[in-house]
Amino acid sequence: MKIAVVGTGYVGLVTGGCLADIGHEVVCTDNDAAKIQTLEAGRLPIYEPGLDTVISKARKQGLVKFSANPAEAVDAGDAIFICVGTPPLPNGDADLSAIDHVAKLIAAEARSPKLVVEKSTVPAQTGQELKRALSVYGRKSGVTFRVASNPEFLREGTAVEDFLHPDRIVVGVDDEGAERQLKEIYKPVLERKFNCPVHAPANCPPGPPPAWLVTTINSAELIKHASNSFLALKISYANMVADLAERLGADIDEVARAVGMDPRIGPSFLKAGLGFGGFCLPKDLQAFVHLAEKSGVDFSLLKEVERINRKRIETFVEKTRRALWVIKGKRVAVLGLAFKPNTDDIRFAPAIDLIGQLLKEGAQVTAYDPEAMEKARGILPEVEFASSAEDAAKDAEALLIATEWPQFRQLNWERIRDAMARPLVLDGRNLLSAQEMKARGFEYYSMGRPD
Ligand code: UGA
Repeated sequence: MKIAVVGTGYVGLVTGGCLADIGHEVVCTDNDAAKIQTLEAGRLPIYEPGLDTVISKARKQGLVKFSANPAEAVDAGDAIFICVGTPPLPNGDADLSAIDHVAKLIAAEARSPKLVVEKSTVPAQTGQELKRALSVYGRKSGVTFRVASNPEFLREGTAVEDFLHPDRIVVGVDDEGAERQLKEIYKPVLERKFNCPVHAPANCPPGPPPAWLVTTINSAELIKHASNSFLALKISYANMVADLAERLGADIDEVARAVGMDPRIGPSFLKAGLGFGGFCLPKDLQAFVHLAEKSGVDFSLLKEVERINRKRIETFVEKTRRALWVIKGKRVAVLGLAFKPNTDDIRFAPAIDLIGQLLKEGAQVTAYDPEAMEKARGILPEVEFASSAEDAAKDAEALLIATEWPQFRQLNWERIRDAMARPLVLDGRNLLSAQEMKARGFEYYSMGRPD
């Protein structure tokens, strides 16, 4: 099928690349001409494992194109996936101006019937507004528009795998034609008939094919917000239990492991630490709370989830202060800047907030991250960026782990110990083993585990 993807952020690029990879003809467009230039030059504006392979293969096959001309893209697609950003407004509501803009563009440029698919995370009832905008602004063209909601559940860092091997595909539609068209688009994924770019041939994870869930448009929109908010809730819950475990001499990792073995609870998103960041969970939670408020529903449970998350950095800085006695004037190394491993994304990253606090208290911060330093440089002019974790640790009086990059486990910790002014490690992500760190001669503190 011919598909247009509007917006080349994480969701847009993964959607466009993967849809081309499974055989569709895709044109991706963005109003940021520099981004399109980068893509046309064969480079990616983001770091996402596996995406470069997916896109370069699709380009060679002529299945994906990039265009700085949105009208051309809209005209080319029978289905148009809207993947533009819905960032938070100062009051916490989702800013839907980009969706509104794309709706007007589609209405103005469409010359043939279009299926317009919302992929961006939007509050429930946005689909209705989208339909209204398309029919009002497109009234003179005589073109028919179908609208569907198809929320995306991919995680940064494993986005390609999540797109091609999802647990479920949710489609919110209000007519059978839209469902049929979407089923046609996702057929290779539903039947698992595509050459998987992530796994070796015939080595895709076993398990049932994805569930195909057909709902109303309002339900599909609500499913996305409800899912992300529930994940946030699980993390804040684990973080509170971690604080309690610390006071009571228990170990959060042992507790979360056992709690998560109950299939009614599940093992994921119970990892305690510095809390959740990124461009999705914090903003979606905030937007969901606002949506509830506007709808007259008191969802204070979720306000508490937000409050607990905001306090994580303060709790960690307090731990650092207790260990260092005085923060002012001390050299502190921070390992990890991205909001989680395997991405270069620093939007709403706990590490960035943490560094902000340390700087405010007068620390001299040296930081290292395997992928996110380029992006961090622009927003942290006071920070010294090191070329390796060992470099960052040189002469530091404390080393703080803010993102759990797996390679940090394999560092030469003995050399780091010798390079530091004081062998003190505060592990905000419970990445390392307390026993091992103590055996290596470190003073070591983590989150919700006995010191
Ligand atoms: C999240 C959801 O997991 C995806 O399903 C969703 O599609 C996506 O948002 C989106 O709305 O686009 P993502 O933002 O990539 O995905 O990141 P997560 O893997 O959910 O992690 C979010 C944050 O929670 C990270 O800062 C991570 O360090 C933290 N986290 C995660 C914990 O602190 N503990 C955990 O147990 C899990």
